[in-house]
Amino acid sequence: MANAYALGEAASRTTVQVDALFLFITLVSLFFFLLVEGLLIYFAIKYRRKKGAEPAATPDIRGNLLLESIWIVIPSLVVAAFFYYGYRVFRDIRTPSPGATDIHAVGRQWLFEFRYPDGRSSINELRVPAGRPVKLILTSDDVIHSFFVPDYRLKQDMVPGRYTTLYLHPDKAGTYPILCAEYCGVSHSTMRAELIVMEPDAYAAWREKKEAPAGLSLAERGKALAEKSGCLGCHALEGKEKFGPNFGKVFGRKVLLADGTSVTADEEYLRESILDPKAKVVKGYPATMPTFKGSLSPEDVGAIIAYLTSLSGGGREEKGEKEKREGAPANKDGEAEAVRKGKTLAETYGCLGCHSADGSVRVGPSFQGIYGRQTELESGGKATADEAYLRESINQPRAKVVKGFPNVMPEFKGKISEEDLSAVIAYLKTLKR
Ligand code: CUA
Repeated sequence: MANAYALGEAASRTTVQVDALFLFITLVSLFFFLLVEGLLIYFAIKYRRKKGAEPAATPDIRGNLLLESIWIVIPSLVVAAFFYYGYRVFRDIRTPSPGATDIHAVGRQWLFEFRYPDGRSSINELRVPAGRPVKLILTSDDVIHSFFVPDYRLKQDMVPGRYTTLYLHPDKAGTYPILCAEYCGVSHSTMRAELIVMEPDAYAAWREKKEAPAGLSLAERGKALAEKSGCLGCHALEGKEKFGPNFGKVFGRKVLLADGTSVTADEEYLRESILDPKAKVVKGYPATMPTFKGSLSPEDVGAIIAYLTSLSGGGREEKGEKEKREGAPANKDGEAEAVRKGKTLAETYGCLGCHSADGSVRVGPSFQGIYGRQTELESGGKATADEAYLRESINQPRAKVVKGFPNVMPEFKGKISEEDLSAVIAYLKTLKR
């Protein structure tokens, strides 16, 4: 593992804690190993059969209460110490950090997508400022992935249909690898991302420079969805209650349930209550809410939860961010606009997880120089990657598979609008060799 015991500043406080625990267990184990092996060797030599000695009867020992008590009590204390120390570190790692920035992270075959509270999103790159805790809300779109930051000694599964959380304490600026640590299919080994911890000034400058996202922030999108899906018909924001509990301040509250138990309204509870409202009904309310399973995508549910979180003052968006975004001049130059949009789409649809933009070969052919390229097909024959070919290959990838590549790309027919399709192709045309 990279710089496991390197001297100097550690990447994160979790690094120090986990390493110290690991070192403690190793040293104690080493002590007992040397003690036991040392005595073994010592006794083997001391009581060996000596040349010419008369064979003597082995003494008949039936037990020794004191000795046996000692070797039961001491190892028990040692193991209990391992547990207690480990528990202390675990508890600290899992305890929510006040003031943490919420960032949604989605695992998908085979990339990581990050969504920031201001609506920005990125693929395989998580940028955070040093010195501020981050709360990652993890989920997966397909199979189980595992979010692993070796330099922080942290790992957490990303499970489809469920939210898990992980707190990061980025103490030191630098770039740290993020790996997927759960075997998730052919390109599991290439499922990598980078955690880029920036000095706060550099981070602020980068945010300013980074193009403002087209459209709404995550919470704003959630608000629009909550209105469109009719949630606000039954849930008031605050003041007088309608059919269901008020939305204002619901996030993070302890909720008493109809069956007498109580839960904390965290992301996982909200997700479950949107998709399976009858599972945990709040005491004093009728169980009449319909399920939104199937009508809201995982992204939509995430956006609504970001909205509910924002109502309770969580999911902070740094001050001034929104004004800045709205004040940003929009690039209305038609062609450039389409290319920019196509690039964003290629990122959000996950194309870049399998197709590189720099000529390197991942699961699929590289996007670099793809337009106009002559390719041999798996079915024999050749094709030129012109506009019609690209269009077909996005809509129905199985129609013409490039020789030497697996036939694993999903169909985008019906999932991508004609306008978006043209934007993606406009973007592909710009990736010349
Ligand atoms: Cu995702 Cu392995």
